[in-house]
Amino acid sequence: MKILKTQVGIIGAGPAGLTLALLLRRQGIEAIILENRSREYVQARVRAGLLEQNTVDIYKSLGVADRLLREGQEHRGVYLSFDGQRIRVPFGELTGGRNITIYGQQEVVKDLTDEWIAGGGQIYFETPASKIEDFETDSPKIHFEYEGEAGILNCDFVAACDGFHGIGRRTLPPDTYKEFTVTYPFSWLGILAHVAPSTDELIYAYHERGFALHSLRSDKISRLYIQVDNDDLIDNWSDERIWEELAIRLGTEGWSLKTGPIFEKSITPMRSFFTDNMQSGRLFLAGDAAHIVPPTGGKGLNLAVADVKHLADGLAEYYQKNSIKALDNYSTIALKRIWRAQDFSNFMTTLFHKQDEHGSFTYQLQKAKFDYIKVSEAYATTIAENYVGLPFEVFE
Ligand code: APR
Ligand code: PHB
Repeated sequence: MKILKTQVGIIGAGPAGLTLALLLRRQGIEAIILENRSREYVQARVRAGLLEQNTVDIYKSLGVADRLLREGQEHRGVYLSFDGQRIRVPFGELTGGRNITIYGQQEVVKDLTDEWIAGGGQIYFETPASKIEDFETDSPKIHFEYEGEAGILNCDFVAACDGFHGIGRRTLPPDTYKEFTVTYPFSWLGILAHVAPSTDELIYAYHERGFALHSLRSDKISRLYIQVDNDDLIDNWSDERIWEELAIRLGTEGWSLKTGPIFEKSITPMRSFFTDNMQSGRLFLAGDAAHIVPPTGGKGLNLAVADVKHLADGLAEYYQKNSIKALDNYSTIALKRIWRAQDFSNFMTTLFHKQDEHGSFTYQLQKAKFDYIKVSEAYATTIAENYVGLPFEVFE
C-alpha cells in the first residue's frame, strides 16, 4: 500500500486543481495532485479558450503568464450579429479598460503543469481517486490507485477539482446540497482549422439556420462552432458542409469567410448545472465538479479559477491565522459569481441560438434584445462587464 501525506489533497489536474496547487504554493501550503488521466491526455483535451481579465491577472501574479501574454491575443471588443447585421461591443470604454484574452485551455493546462512540476510539485497521473473518507474529521483520506497498487493520501483538506464526472460531488452528503440542471435542446459542433481567422475579434451570430461562433487561436488557426441538433452525428458533417453553413450563418455584407483544412471536430451538448453548496467538513468542490455553464460566453474555466482563488484565500487564512471563517464562507462567496455567470451564460445562449421558428414570439424577443444593445449604452455595458468578468471586489 502506497501512503502519502500532505496538507491539501487535490483531485484533478484540470485548470481548477492546477491553479489551486500554485496558489497554495505561493502561500507556503503543501499540496499533492492526483489525476485520473495521463499527462498527454489532459494536455491534448481541446476546450474553450477565453480568459477573463481576472484569470489573466491571477496567472500573471503566479508568474505563469509569459507564454499566455506572448501567444495569447488580447481582445478589446466582441462582434454580435443578428440576421446578418453585425455590431461591436467595445470593452474598454464600457468597463474601464478590462479585456479578455484568447488562449486555448490546453495551453493553460500545459503551462500550469510545467510550473507545478518545475517547482518540485508532486502530481500523480493515471491515478484515479476512488473514495474520500473522514472529511468530517481533522484527518481526511483520499483512496487512490497507482500503478496497480492501492494507496491513501492523508491530508488536512480535500479539494475535489475533479470535473463534472468526478467523485467529489457524489461524496457530499445528499442532505447538504441541491442540484439544478437545464439541458438545452441543441449542441455545438466545434472545429479547429488551419486557416487564418476571418475576424480580429470573436463573432457570436444568430441566424435563422441556427447559432454560429467565430473564435480563433492564432494567426494560422481558427476555432469555430455551429448549433446542431442534440441527436446529430459528426458523420453528417463533411468539412465542406461545415464551411458552407458557417459562411451563411456568420455572413454579413462586405465580409467573407476564409476556409481551410479542419483538423479537429466534435459535438458537445449544452447544459447549465450547479449545486447550491460546495463543501462539507473538510471537503471542498471547485470548478466543473460543482457547476457547468453552456459555453456561450466562455465562463467555464474562469469560474473554476475564481472558485480556487477563494478556496486558496480560505486555506491561507486557516494556516496563517488559524481561522476557519473564510473557509466556512467559501460556498457562499463562490456561489455569488456562479449564479451571475449562470445567468449571463444562459442569456447569451438564449439570445443567439435558434430556439423556435423564425418570426415566433421567442424570436421577436431575441431580436428586441439585439436591437436594444444597438441603442442603449447601459444594456451594452451589462453585456461587456459580464463578458470580461466582474472584478473580485464586487462579490466580496
Ligand atoms: N480521480 C482523479 N482525477 C479525476 C477523477 C478521479 N476520480 N475524476 C476526474 N478526474 C480529473 C479529470 O480527468 C480531469 O482532468 O479531474 C480533472 C477535471 O478537470 P476539468 O474537467 O478540466 O475541470 P476543471 O478543472 O474544473 O476546469 C474547468 O472549464 O472550460 C471549462 O469544462 C471546461 O475543463 C474546463 C472547466
Ligand atoms: C473558444 O475560443 O473556444 C470559445 C470562445 C468563446 C466562447 C466559447 C468558446 O463563448
